[in-house]
Amino acid sequence: MTIYASDQIHMSIPKAADVLGLGREQVRLVKSDARFRLDVRSLREMIEADMSRGLVPFCVVASAGTVNTGAVDPLAALARVAATYNLWFHVDGAYGALGSLDERKRPLFEGLERADSVSLDPHKWLYAPVDCGCLLFRDPAKARRAFLTDDADYIKVHEEAIDESFAFWDYGIELSRRFRALKIWMMLCYYGTRRIRAAISDDNDLAAYLAERVNLAEEFELLAPVELSICCFRYVPPAVHAALREAEPTERAHLNAELDQLNARIMHRVQRGGRAYLSNVTLNGSYGLRACVVNFRTTRDDIEQALDIVREAAREISEE
Ligand SMILES: Cc1ncc(COP(=O)(O)O)c(C=O)c1O
Repeated sequence: MTIYASDQIHMSIPKAADVLGLGREQVRLVKSDARFRLDVRSLREMIEADMSRGLVPFCVVASAGTVNTGAVDPLAALARVAATYNLWFHVDGAYGALGSLDERKRPLFEGLERADSVSLDPHKWLYAPVDCGCLLFRDPAKARRAFLTDDADYIKVHEEAIDESFAFWDYGIELSRRFRALKIWMMLCYYGTRRIRAAISDDNDLAAYLAERVNLAEEFELLAPVELSICCFRYVPPAVHAALREAEPTERAHLNAELDQLNARIMHRVQRGGRAYLSNVTLNGSYGLRACVVNFRTTRDDIEQALDIVREAAREISEE
């Protein structure tokens, strides 16, 4: 049985396939396009080819905000493919699904409403303390059919009203669990959707602002379009910038390898410094710095400072 996802998928999907006993090689990785979104034509071709080899496709996983760049797969087109081949349509919105609260980003998420299941992480972009993951089902009865076990007397639910008889353990693998939903409920009651929407929109603006600053600075290069609140870039010393433009392919590969090393050193230095936090990303073979804004306290000044910290790290490395 095969699962389909883009080559940008989060590593939790192959891991889940392993845990399910399918094996991670059953996750078929479909190439992504220039914006790092799953290429739908390649998906169709792969499904057809797999079926003709006797494989049984059963699920397509779309990303609504990839972990690397925040790209949102073409959800409506993927929903159509899922319907054509009778596949379960899961959307991994762990990082990005809540980005759809920003009205300006809403068109990116068209088709999300057709998912069979959506994962989203309130501990990411709903500002909740870790941990608080969330899985939404279109038809919860399907999850209940999969997970209900009727053979333990001590946890029988005797209440009948819907709000009293709901038991999480009938809808997933976890039994004993903390009251995670409480912090979400309290936050929603206290702040309300309007303020959360505004904070999410601000985060998106800050990532766009970072990209703007990167594009204006001759020592930085933007590595991916900014779709939501993630901005990926790398440090390129101005002299190398000019050399890259004129370099032959072999020379370019050599310069890029040096830039990978330089940016890896910068990333470690920035992380160890503790004033800003950037992670790393590999995009089209290049090592990049990844900024992900999911904090309602982040300001434009923080963005400027983060870039200054990167510059400072680069300068220190060049002086060693
Ligand atoms: C797209 C995506 N999916 C899944 C996950 C995993 O989420 P969690 O850390 O809650 O297990 C992440 C975490 O970064 C993610 O970005």
